[in-house]
Amino acid sequence: MPHLILTCDPDFNDLALDEFRHDSIYGALVAELAPGVWLAECDDGFWGLAVTWQAKPPIFVRHFCPVDSVLPLTGTSDDIASLAELAASDFADGLDADLPYSVQSRVLAADLPYKPFDLNIALSGALTDATGAVVDVRAPEQVLSVVCARLPDEALSRFTFHVSPTTDNGIRNTQYAFLGLSPTNLNLSDWAGGVRRFAREEGQISRAEFKLLEALEVFRIDLPPRGVALDLGAAPGGWTRVLRQREQFVTAVDPAELDPRLAEDRGVRHKRMTAEEYLADEPDEFDLIVNDMRMDARDSARLMVAYAGQLHRHGLALMTFKLPGDDRKRIIEHAFNILRQRYVIAGARQLFHNRSEITVFLTVKGEGMKG
Ligand SMILES: C[S@@+](CC[C@H](N)C(=O)[O-])C[C@H]1O[C@@H](n2cnc3c(N)ncnc32)[C@H](O)[C@@H]1O
Repeated sequence: MPHLILTCDPDFNDLALDEFRHDSIYGALVAELAPGVWLAECDDGFWGLAVTWQAKPPIFVRHFCPVDSVLPLTGTSDDIASLAELAASDFADGLDADLPYSVQSRVLAADLPYKPFDLNIALSGALTDATGAVVDVRAPEQVLSVVCARLPDEALSRFTFHVSPTTDNGIRNTQYAFLGLSPTNLNLSDWAGGVRRFAREEGQISRAEFKLLEALEVFRIDLPPRGVALDLGAAPGGWTRVLRQREQFVTAVDPAELDPRLAEDRGVRHKRMTAEEYLADEPDEFDLIVNDMRMDARDSARLMVAYAGQLHRHGLALMTFKLPGDDRKRIIEHAFNILRQRYVIAGARQLFHNRSEITVFLTVKGEGMKG
């Protein structure tokens, strides 16, 4: 059966693997290569599952890539040249020389004496020499994914790929590189393993800012020029700061204090009250509502439904569902059903920057909209 590699937040392994089993044909797990990184196999393979997930993306599987070739690793720097040779021999034909590509490597076994960067450089050098294709790490249209990891002993017998279980010296192989080529847009994330990092900025108010930056990117949200936004649960003000950078006028609602750096900003209005209180206080109308309130996801969804009338016709909303405990699947379904009264659920993903939560992207439904 074809193999592939799936990545998710290890705290949400159960839900991610449910998605894989449910959406694939005869999907089965071979091994956990590292926390939240799974070698798996299914009858429909990467390409079949990619079609399914293009139509209805999973929430918890963050990234996936095919396994087309496997190389046993020696655990020495010789692996770099061997992998470069393999990249050219196995993938030059499959790579479209007219489209930009990148090599995305992950080295998941701590004792390997090379870093992802070393592999990216060596493999892309070999592939470009063989094909003439241009590397573009920022916007690749095709990706050679490389995952170097230890395969647990108990998984060796389940791994049906044709690789020698021993080295030339008769020593048992335990570390392997798994390689696969795919169009970037099918991998669920443009980033190796779905790991999307942003540089820390001077003036950053909270780590939560990364969450909003990632959501705007993943859901491809274009904010209206000089739009009017409502930030529910705004304190200390990270999301408000990101929205201000994008020229939105922000009403920030939170009983807690905002970072003093926002106080001088005339584009920010702090309503120092709860979202429930602001709703009763003749709120304005908005182009965008964002909601990162620390609150049960279903209560938060009810409040979003109550606020739907404050959104313009083209209105968008982004919210997080906090999922601290058990029963997460049921809570998500319940909150979705509440939201569907007034919104279309345009996307829901567990982003790299989400901790014990998911981010949900909403558009307002047809009926009862304002102009
Ligand atoms: C995770 S923090 C938000 C962080 C914020 N997005 C940022 O980037 O700085 C959650 C906030 O929700 C607020 N909150 C909880 N219940 C609320 C309610 N009923 N109305 C308004 N804010 C609420 C808390 O006061 C807290 O400041």
